[in-house]
Amino acid sequence: MTDTTGTPARKRLLIRTWGCQMNVYDSARMADVLAPLGYAPTESVEEADMVILNTCHIREKATEKVFSDLGRLREAKQARGGEMVIAVAGCVAQAEGAEITARAPWVDIVLGPQSYHRLPEMVARAARAAGAVIETEFPPEDKFDHLPETAAPQGVTAFLTIQEGCDKFCSFCVVPYTRGAEYSRPVAAILAEARRLVALGAREITLLGQNVNAFHGEGPDGRAWGLGRLVRSLAEVEGLARIRYTTSHPRDMDEDLIAAHAEVPALMPFLHLPVQSGSDRVLRMMNRGHTADDYLRLVERLRAARPDLALSTDIIAGHPGETEADHAATMALIRAVGFAQAFSFKYSARPGTPAATMAGQVEEAAKDARLAEIQALLREQQTAFNRSRAGMVADVLVTGPGRHPGQMAGRTPWLNPVHFEGPESLAGRIVPVKILAGHPNSLTGALAAPLHDQSRERDAA
Ligand code: 5AD
Ligand code: SF4
Repeated sequence: MTDTTGTPARKRLLIRTWGCQMNVYDSARMADVLAPLGYAPTESVEEADMVILNTCHIREKATEKVFSDLGRLREAKQARGGEMVIAVAGCVAQAEGAEITARAPWVDIVLGPQSYHRLPEMVARAARAAGAVIETEFPPEDKFDHLPETAAPQGVTAFLTIQEGCDKFCSFCVVPYTRGAEYSRPVAAILAEARRLVALGAREITLLGQNVNAFHGEGPDGRAWGLGRLVRSLAEVEGLARIRYTTSHPRDMDEDLIAAHAEVPALMPFLHLPVQSGSDRVLRMMNRGHTADDYLRLVERLRAARPDLALSTDIIAGHPGETEADHAATMALIRAVGFAQAFSFKYSARPGTPAATMAGQVEEAAKDARLAEIQALLREQQTAFNRSRAGMVADVLVTGPGRHPGQMAGRTPWLNPVHFEGPESLAGRIVPVKILAGHPNSLTGALAAPLHDQSRERDAA
């Protein structure tokens, strides 16, 4: 590649991302910090001068999958005569740092989620060091201060991390150990990043955090602001039409945030609110700090504030100690709420978490059967929700071209993907779409306004 600008020689960076939206966001920021060193993205391992595995620890066998990927990367590195920097980032790095360097000595860098801003320095150190460079401390204040401003446009819909870590210590979960204590970014930094994202074309921003509604960032007035107040302030950002946030804990759903759902039109009527179980016994063992009834009453209050609110959740099947009666209580709770969407998981032990060593581990076959029942019910509810949209005219944020020629894709306020016929010039706009049919995973529709009227902004200020 010719270089007449004095920038460093062009190198290729491959980032593989697993897990949650926080990881997707972090991968984008790692690409941002490495860009000034001359690293440009590639999809090809053969071409890569540096490979980052951004890992997730939540899923089953996460660690083993990382090691098998590392085995393949070792061959790729050898094929390039050793000229490849291999880094393991994310929660597996955080949890298994020492094991990674012991079992895969060809790894150059191991870094936890709080150290991404130090990547350039670590790359330089790795170039000199004989062994791997490990960085898995927890200084979150540093990270956000030192990351560069968002460089690559994320598009019409963007993510913005406002909070990290978790102090809840649910029995089954590794997050408090891998991501550390709860930390909220200052409001001014969040507003500045939101304005930048909007200037780069974002019309919808999803605020991210492992425990996002525990947000308590320092406001310009020096006081801690809750998420409700932050949302109201973001709603004032010109050009920002839609706000979402994820993932929330029922215990942190405060009065002001519920009121924001009633009062802030830009706050979209869709909420991911994990419940995990419908049995009070299991919820207690999980250390969730709420009962099934607390959750149901919370849902009632949210729906009173925003009657068209669609709910999503996470459910775990087969937590230690869970009986058939507990499972039935979970099914009953799912029926009582009626979810528009949900994620459900078979319980699997995470080393180091309290649940991993609890008595009463559930047989695999029972877990499978319970999960299948839960998933069948959730699928039914999701399809019913999607079908219930048919006949409505929904404001659709057009995200880009659809799969077929002449087709555009977008999303409703309830986060359903929608496909409809329309010109590409609609990308980034919010247009009325008549929903014609609801399918299990998406909707189809048709523009509801005549062509000359299509560009009008339905929910712009
Ligand atoms: N086993 C199964 N599911 C889990 N989750 C977290 N830890 C575990 C585990 N050990 C699920 C929870 C959480 C979601 C992100 O992953 O439902 O909300
Ligand atoms: Fe994990 Fe969420 Fe519980 Fe925190 S609140 S410990 S992130 S499941």
